[in-house]
Amino acid sequence: DAKAISDLVASRLRDVADFPKPGVVFKDITPLLGDADAFGDVVRALAARHTGSVEGLDGLDAVAGVEARGFIIGAALALELGVGFVPVRKAGKLPGETVQRTYDLEYGTATIEVHADAVTAGQRVLLVDDVLATGGTAIAAWDLLSDCGADVVELATVVELAFLGGREALGERAVHSLHVVG
Ligand code: PRP
Repeated sequence: DAKAISDLVASRLRDVADFPKPGVVFKDITPLLGDADAFGDVVRALAARHTGSVEGLDGLDAVAGVEARGFIIGAALALELGVGFVPVRKAGKLPGETVQRTYDLEYGTATIEVHADAVTAGQRVLLVDDVLATGGTAIAAWDLLSDCGADVVELATVVELAFLGGREALGERAVHSLHVVG
């Protein structure tokens, strides 16, 4: 159930102090990824919402994951669900024609992009990332996919850092996280 999965995620997260900069406690998912049983349980828990158990969330056409850790969770989830995977990348990495979104960081801006033909109009896409923090990345990715005509059904994350307000920032965009921190 939800409590068991949340506890499992918590038990396989490693807090790393002062990364990537002083004062930040980084939530490292590599212990989770390195445990085949835990990784599998997490992917199956994320998939379960999209196989008919929650009304309106099934019938996906694709999973989109955000570079870099969203690729790991997202690719596994796409295979589990039997749909294709769409990489949302940092600017400059994709070879074809792209659609971009730029968003604010604490200092400066970041740009992410997808191939313009990665999704077709009306496709139902699940957006995946490992961690929801301020929500800046997820909002940009969601809106980017919408720009391409996708119907984004939900943001799925393994960890949500609630104290950073990402869920509120996402507004009407639906969020599902397996484990919520503070
Ligand atoms: C992390 C994380 C999310 C994003 C969340 O990625 O994997 O993509 O930050 O932060 P936000 O909600 O405040 O936007 P990061 O920027 O560290 O990129 P990486 O996975 O390529 O290292």
